[in-house]
Amino acid sequence: MYEDSAAIGRTADTEWGWARADDWQPPSELDTGVPHTARMYDYYLGGKDNFEADRKAAQAAISAYPALPLLARTNRQFLGRAVEFAASRGVRQFIDIGTGIPAVGSTNEVAQRVAPDARVVYVDNDPIVATHARALLASHPAGHTSVIEADLRDPATILGHPALAGAVDLSQPVALMLVAVLHFIRDEEGAQQLVGTLRDALAPGSALILSHGSPDFASRESAAEGTRIYKSASAPLVLRSRAGVEPFFGDFEFTGPGLVQLPLWRPTAGHVPTTELPEGWQDVSAYAGVAFKK
Ligand SMILES: C[S@@+](CC[C@H](N)C(=O)[O-])C[C@H]1O[C@@H](n2cnc3c(N)ncnc32)[C@H](O)[C@@H]1O
Repeated sequence: MYEDSAAIGRTADTEWGWARADDWQPPSELDTGVPHTARMYDYYLGGKDNFEADRKAAQAAISAYPALPLLARTNRQFLGRAVEFAASRGVRQFIDIGTGIPAVGSTNEVAQRVAPDARVVYVDNDPIVATHARALLASHPAGHTSVIEADLRDPATILGHPALAGAVDLSQPVALMLVAVLHFIRDEEGAQQLVGTLRDALAPGSALILSHGSPDFASRESAAEGTRIYKSASAPLVLRSRAGVEPFFGDFEFTGPGLVQLPLWRPTAGHVPTTELPEGWQDVSAYAGVAFKK
């Protein structure tokens, strides 16, 4: 039984109709018995858009690796800083693959704060994410947002999608965002090649904004247990060391600090106070980087 009154769409003050909590039923294609990566992440962020199976798996993952909620929070902060950075460098188009259930500081919100005419295309393979994103991620009137339900493992479909062609001019710079999503793609699925296909489609001046879970700052036991828990989720967790993450950038040129431990990517007051990580933050086991195409 689905029990959160505010789940699936913050219904208390919702302006969008389909998700009234009292009569809401999950869409039939949705298997709520399987923990889903997007809804587990929502739980780490303190959201309500998750089901019992998601919560159980997320709680087990947090027991194995207590820094997980901090990692999720600092990842959102990185996303915000990186989008602001790209927009302030003149990038006006964003393709955000692995959008996640809408949370504070979404890509269009941050980008359009810098540049109201920024155009954002969201891509996610989870129908719940796509529905939420369509309902909640409203564009500034001067800009554009649209949502494509598609899979990162099929870059040709993403690049050829009419909604992308209608919103983004690939002959102009784009920020391609792969934030906390590539660790759900296995090497055997061609993780490096498919990112290469996406990079190749971008014009000079484009940016790759990327974060990725890693075993490098966690104990061996935490990493192993986290990986085990995700084996029964909608996608496996593929933690990569630095040497596994860096090649995703291809020949793009790193900017700022390069590929660094997630909270250390251009820290700002209000997010990370100094370049010395506070107590507990050393355990945030993920990398982040932004690089530009020459
Ligand atoms: C951990 S969330 C990250 C959300 C957001 N990028 C952020 O960093 O806050 C991962 C998202 O990637 C999506 N995802 C996972 N595998 C995917 C795939 N193969 N194709 C597209 N989206 C995927 C999930 O549905 C989820 O919304």
